[in-house]
Amino acid sequence: MSLSEEMYLRYHGLIVPKETHSYESLEFAQGFKFEDDDVLAVTYPKSGTIWMQEILPLVLNGGDLTPIHTIPNWERVPWLEEKQLARVVAKLASPRALVSHLPYNFMPPSFCTSKAKVIYLMRNPKDIMVSSYYFHQMASFLEDPGTFDEFMDTFLEGKVLFGKWTDHVKSWRNSELGDRIMYITYEEMVQDLPAALRRISDFLGCNLTEEVIQKIAEHCSFKTMKNNNMSNFSLIPKVYLDHDKSPFLRKGIAGDWKTHFSSEQLARFTSVISKELEGESFPLPWSLD
Ligand code: A3P
Repeated sequence: MSLSEEMYLRYHGLIVPKETHSYESLEFAQGFKFEDDDVLAVTYPKSGTIWMQEILPLVLNGGDLTPIHTIPNWERVPWLEEKQLARVVAKLASPRALVSHLPYNFMPPSFCTSKAKVIYLMRNPKDIMVSSYYFHQMASFLEDPGTFDEFMDTFLEGKVLFGKWTDHVKSWRNSELGDRIMYITYEEMVQDLPAALRRISDFLGCNLTEEVIQKIAEHCSFKTMKNNNMSNFSLIPKVYLDHDKSPFLRKGIAGDWKTHFSSEQLARFTSVISKELEGESFPLPWSLD
């Protein structure tokens, strides 16, 4: 797959889709003034970003469902780097929640000097690749991924949105943010969402009761989100996102790669990722092979 100049913008080497990003939006992000009580969820694409857009407002507001029932996810918890932010920033409820796919080295200066908290959500890169493959098929503003095998090479070479997964993960692991950052995994959330919500709530100092935790878990389940028009992207015209090709909320499981990877592909994928993570000390919650 050659990178289309028509569809993608390169911002200091970072690949982003032109449909949702512009040079101005990326510069707006650079000038964005973080407040100390802002909360930012950072993800590599297809790691569960929209899940965080559902969870954060509910954790921060004590389980009031109004935002997830009345505000589309991209306005409710906007992306720091997308065009939408400038339009909706003044309307954001306080404390503000945002999401971002930016690697750590692309964060604006005010982020580093503020006390804003960060939740870094990681997902098994094999499942990310599978999810991304289907996303490239349903999103008309992304290049055709080609065959699964071709897309694997594209993914491993980092010729994809926001670059290599390994660079992204490493950048946020080595971020020196101390206790401002919390790491969580998609797999942990799939396995026990209430437990994940308790961790998030404790990290953000929200003191939620067990009753509220259970309520949030119910409203952030895959099934409920799939039926929430404010969160399932059904409000976006089909010419941009074609859910007949693949729904955005596609499977919502851990380990879907097992039904997609051949043994040769698994060996190839594992060899590249392990090599790039060599010498890194952070523990991975899944095995690479
Ligand atoms: P799949 O394609 O594997 O189903 P992002 O929001 O970063 O683009 O990530 C999208 C992935 O997160 C999709 O994965 C989607 O189904 C999954 N996802 C979103 N909400 C979820 C939920 N409530 N439970 C489980 N997975 C969820």
